[in-house]
Amino acid sequence: MIFSRITGTGGHLPGAAVSNDDLVARGIDTSDEWIADRTGIRFRHFASVQENSSDLALHAARQALAAAGRDAAEVDLVIVATSTPDQVFPSTACLLQHKLGNRTAAAFDVQAVCSGFVYALTIADKFVRSGSHRCALVVGAEVFSRILDWNDRGTCVLFGDGAGAVVLEASAAPGILSSALHADGHYHDILSVPGQVCGGGVSGKPFLQMDGQAVFKFAVRVLGDTAVELMAAAGLPLSALDWLVPHQANIRILQSTAKRLELPMERVVTTVAEHGNTSAASVPLALDVAVRDGRIKPGNHVMLEGVGGGFTWGGVLLRF
Ligand code: ACO
Repeated sequence: MIFSRITGTGGHLPGAAVSNDDLVARGIDTSDEWIADRTGIRFRHFASVQENSSDLALHAARQALAAAGRDAAEVDLVIVATSTPDQVFPSTACLLQHKLGNRTAAAFDVQAVCSGFVYALTIADKFVRSGSHRCALVVGAEVFSRILDWNDRGTCVLFGDGAGAVVLEASAAPGILSSALHADGHYHDILSVPGQVCGGGVSGKPFLQMDGQAVFKFAVRVLGDTAVELMAAAGLPLSALDWLVPHQANIRILQSTAKRLELPMERVVTTVAEHGNTSAASVPLALDVAVRDGRIKPGNHVMLEGVGGGFTWGGVLLRF
């Protein structure tokens, strides 16, 4: 039987950390106290105008490949989760594959907003377990700063740019134990960028808009439900979970989820204070931080969870 296993992780944040006070200095009508109290966010990073998602992805991918001891030429599948692609097409995955110097891997993007990485990882798991592919590079990369309305203080303070990556390889032992993906398009308008490229311009609003309170309630419910679903599918009790690595939207969402699961916050990896919300990059970035600082160890049960626009949600339970 073929399983899939993460063999390397990587992450990249562009430029210098931008504090809440830096946003105030840039003229946004907000305060460090408001942002930190409501969201837990203290810093975020923004890409320069020359940097696109594929550039951030390249840094993260190189780190993940080095950690796995793999050369880019050995990768036979590249999946990039992003809602801020470099171009309408080709996919950011094809641009990344080119930058890596790989000319043979299958390459495509996945669009599931902040759930994008768990969607991409689940797809890669199915490719690897089928035997069709052996070495997948799975990346979440975003330049969300490009789609923020700097006149909307309710949203522009929440997000940042970055990329995270994993190498997922065929293995005789698991690996990924269970996965679950869900969506309910009925909620398409509580978090969206409703514009589109049309006739040489943009038709509709090309900025992120959000019903924050609706998103909050939805996220807490589905993150809790998905955790229960993933443990049951793997035949494990919730007490067997060593680390929860959830999408980093807001510390209060993470605290409420942990409380519902009776999981101490010490077992929840949180990077929202330093990274802000990096959408599809947030889960692999948080995973990379906790792997590199030695918290996540071989053999640990780790749950990755995403929730975002669509609405989409899901997760992956794995033995690291
Ligand atoms: N600084 C100062 N004041 C602000 C700011 C700001 N940045 N933003 C809003 N306010 C003010 C509003 O104008 C309003 O003032 P008023 O009472 O005088 O009218 C007041 O704060 C309350 O505004 P609300 O929008 O009702 O604020 P709320 O308490 O709902 O908090 C927040 C907003 C933090 C976004 C909250 O709804 C939340 O945590 N939602 C979760 C959504 C989230 O984190 N989304 C991330 C993306 S989605 C995802 O990744 C899944």
